[in-house]
Amino acid sequence: MNHFLDIHQTDPADLRHIIDRAAAMKSSRQGRPRGAPDDEQPLKDHMVALIFEKPSTRTRVSFDVGVRQMGGQTMVLSGADMQLGHGETIADTARVLSRYVDLIMIRTFEEATLLEMAEYASVPVINGLTNRTHPCQIMADIMTFEEHSGPIKGKKVVWSGDGNNVFASFAHAAKSFDFELVFTGPPTLDPEPALNGLYTVERDPNKAVEGADLVVTDTWVSMHDPQSARERRHNQLRGYQVNDALMAKAKPDALFMHCLPAHRDDEVTSSVMDGPHSVIFDEAENRLHAQKSVMRWCLGK
Ligand code: CP
Ligand code: NVA
Repeated sequence: MNHFLDIHQTDPADLRHIIDRAAAMKSSRQGRPRGAPDDEQPLKDHMVALIFEKPSTRTRVSFDVGVRQMGGQTMVLSGADMQLGHGETIADTARVLSRYVDLIMIRTFEEATLLEMAEYASVPVINGLTNRTHPCQIMADIMTFEEHSGPIKGKKVVWSGDGNNVFASFAHAAKSFDFELVFTGPPTLDPEPALNGLYTVERDPNKAVEGADLVVTDTWVSMHDPQSARERRHNQLRGYQVNDALMAKAKPDALFMHCLPAHRDDEVTSSVMDGPHSVIFDEAENRLHAQKSVMRWCLGK
């Protein structure tokens, strides 16, 4: 049994296997209706709990569809509706759920919640985003990059904006998949110090994107950030918007990614989102394929 808690806690050979199998599983479904079962049914008779303590569109739907395509069943649970939201400990919740389900995916606030769930669950636990990281997203992003541009090893990835949870998982991936990662953003929104050494900093976004194979950004205000910080963050980040002028400084065939949901014309212009560099909807689709492969790896299937 394997938990999928973070990119850097997963063996690089396993990460590579997960990506390659995701790509194979995707191509084996070409042309089928979304609801059609996969040829292989590795989750037959398996029950999966999907717990959300924060909103979600992609994670919720892609995990649910993925489990069903592989022959399993899901239950989508809102943290607020569970006893978890009313004082029951994470440890007790983990032990109870482990008597009912074969796999737990959780999206939560504090990383400590995820880690406690994994410590006390006797079934695999998958990180569906915490305040600190979002590893499933980055597995889909690596898969998407390689689908369009070939191996990511040695390539230059530039993150423009807030040094947030999605950036953190990119930083972990830079080491595991051996690509160059450049952060461009204001010093007040630098990534957490634990990530130092996994990326370089270039404060000037125009210089940062020179020679980039991939430009990435994310929302300026994450779900765990206080709304009161919105205006200050927008003022600090305005100069890091990804727009046509910035993309023009990257390589001509550079890709643009965003985990979504995006705030059009804040962190990225609509012209970039809908333009020739953008692979955002392939990226969203690949959440499905990457996570199916993650679940199989977790269950040893
Ligand atoms: N990218 C992502 O995780 O989207 P959701 O918040 O919609 O799940
Ligand atoms: N950084 C964003 C990602 C959403 C998928 C957040 O945590 O809200």
